[in-house]
Amino acid sequence: MGTPINTAAGAAHAAILGVGAYRPRTVVPNADVIEAIDSSDEWIQQRSGIKTRGFAQDDETVVMMSVNASRQALDRAGIGPEQVGTVIVATVSHLLQTPSAATMIAHELGTNKAAAFDISAACAGFCHGVALAADMVRSGSSGHVLVIGVERLSDITSPSDRGTAFIFADGAGAVVVGPSEVPGIGPVVWGSDGEHYDHIRQDVPWDDALEQATSGELAEAPHLVMQGSAVFRWAAFEMAKVAQEALDRAGITPEQLDVFVPHQANNRITDAMARAMKLPETVQIARDIIDQGNTSAASVPMALERMISDGQARSGDTALLIAFGAGLAYAAQVVTVP
Ligand code: COA
Repeated sequence: MGTPINTAAGAAHAAILGVGAYRPRTVVPNADVIEAIDSSDEWIQQRSGIKTRGFAQDDETVVMMSVNASRQALDRAGIGPEQVGTVIVATVSHLLQTPSAATMIAHELGTNKAAAFDISAACAGFCHGVALAADMVRSGSSGHVLVIGVERLSDITSPSDRGTAFIFADGAGAVVVGPSEVPGIGPVVWGSDGEHYDHIRQDVPWDDALEQATSGELAEAPHLVMQGSAVFRWAAFEMAKVAQEALDRAGITPEQLDVFVPHQANNRITDAMARAMKLPETVQIARDIIDQGNTSAASVPMALERMISDGQARSGDTALLIAFGAGLAYAAQVVTVP
């Protein structure tokens, strides 16, 4: 037995205290993306529900969008940046290998040297971050944790790739997780189906791209590719089970649920999940994808923020969050709307 080591003591419970979002200024209708992929407005709407998406301009960087979403979340939580103990950024489109986006964001926000790191769980990243944050608040690792989901997928999507060009988009969402007198974040149900590792991925690894660039063979920058039908089947069938398990573990029945905020991957996947879970018609369902597209790690907090702003989700409501994507990785939890 070594010398006993002190451990930290955290809060009894954790909750989401505030939600913020940043939506890119440039709204791009289907009409502007169809030519390069030989598609139509009607096909895109029917297959995905998407009518428009936000594409970031040069100044709308990963850091800028994150800082804006975070300031809104902090304001709404009534928390100053100096109270933030940790900044977790979920993203796959911060295109600098190191350092993390989180350190830069923590600095720009004016935190007091908050711990800061990025996590890579693709579209599921935000819900992974919320799970980590809740555990950190309860364990005493941090008083308040800022969790950001942010993407500039337009930087890593080929405008001529038929399977992805109309789906992926840009934006940021953020939440403040902090101490609470009552439980506000239920147990996470998370995991990975790594046998489908190649279903959504960057087509060419950076080292191969660098070699091709050096030898003058690089035709286009590496971009995302996706086996659309396989991902659709996996998400529609497997994710409803994960969502149901998150409800069960939180002790919530579908009848007690007020709000369902699935990853905004595709409206048809959302419909399939809601049907499989037999969600009552009283449950409000996020449909942010219609005008924001699929913003990967940013989609759940952006959709939640929209529902709160529109009055579809009210303070005290019980919401089910679920996110899933490349890896294939997934995470779900029940939360109380702040
Ligand atoms: N525009 C118009 N037609 C297209 C098209 C496009 N962008 N992409 C494919 N098609 C056509 C194909 O040529 C094919 O035509 P055919 O029947 O005449 O041969 C037909 O549509 C079906 O092709 P398929 O590749 O099987 O498409 P799909 O029905 O699977 O729909 C997606 C494509 C991407 C909409 C669908 O697979 C999907 O939504 N997948 C899930 C994607 C997702 O949500 N990912 C996010 C997870 S994070």
